[in-house]
Amino acid sequence: MRVAVLTSGGDAPGMNGAIRAATRTAFVRDWEVLGVPDGYRGLLEGRFRRLTDRTMGGILHRGGTILGTAREPQLLTEEGQRQGLAALKRAGVEGLVVIGGGGSLKGALALAKLGVPTVGVPATIDNDVPFTDMSIGVDTALNTALEAIDRIKDTASSHRRAHVVEVMGRNCGYLALACALAAGAEAVLLPEHEPHPEDLLGALASSYERGKPHFIVVAAEGSGLPARKFHEYVNAAEDTFESRLTILGHVQRGGSPTAYDRLLGSRLGAAALRALAEGEPGIMVGVSGRRLERFPLEDVAAGKKHLDEDTYDLALTLAGMHRRRG
Ligand code: F6P
Repeated sequence: MRVAVLTSGGDAPGMNGAIRAATRTAFVRDWEVLGVPDGYRGLLEGRFRRLTDRTMGGILHRGGTILGTAREPQLLTEEGQRQGLAALKRAGVEGLVVIGGGGSLKGALALAKLGVPTVGVPATIDNDVPFTDMSIGVDTALNTALEAIDRIKDTASSHRRAHVVEVMGRNCGYLALACALAAGAEAVLLPEHEPHPEDLLGALASSYERGKPHFIVVAAEGSGLPARKFHEYVNAAEDTFESRLTILGHVQRGGSPTAYDRLLGSRLGAAALRALAEGEPGIMVGVSGRRLERFPLEDVAAGKKHLDEDTYDLALTLAGMHRRRG
């Protein structure tokens, strides 16, 4: 049996652990594994390289993806899918593991529908893939952002300033919310909740009057009130904190994966291969509580991940704010 593995979309720390686990689990069955360089782009161009036990050595602790990745919208077109299918057939590939986020898993579903036994592995720092509690890379990105915010807090307190910190997450507020809660931020701006700048400015003013040494705002990049805009509002207000703006950007995507992401990548990579071996393709492997589960790719592609509202309430409560009702 010959299978292929690819990583697609934004890289996420822990992808290498998933590649390694899928490959080594295949080797135990004496299967051959081809790596597809640069995600679906490499697939469309018919590029494959044989993975060996040695190529899998020394990669578990490395950030990024040793296979390379790309954003390749072409695979979501019929023409692109036909091209991908033809490339897989030419290479004699009988099973495919796709490691990536929502868009990549839609591509996996398209190939599965064309008859390619395909299994998806959720990997994106955004944590926006439905059904799985966590995607590979989220924990590392969260810890990276948190470390940066802790540092920002030191300088914020020293100068008695407000700091607005933008974190990634596309249209999902998970990273921002988790950062805000873990960093003890004074406010959080999320795509899932309508922003009320007047409430935030009120909280800012009252914190200033009460003598707080800093005011940290964590803003998701997809928030309805962009980080830069709120930063400008703060600086336009009188008799309150001065503001500084930090956009953390791609710093959050790099770095050595945390223990959690190495474990998650290893468990999910191996589980993907097992699903192929057990003849259950067309699914995504994910984590629910402490257990690994299989979810139909069809449901994953159609689903949406929702923000945990209890966690949002907790972040507001601990920041001394209240949610607007009604
Ligand atoms: O999906 C992961 C992510 O890092 C998002 O949080 C961000 O919006 C996007 O990718 C950035 O994409 P790119 O690396 O293509 O600029």
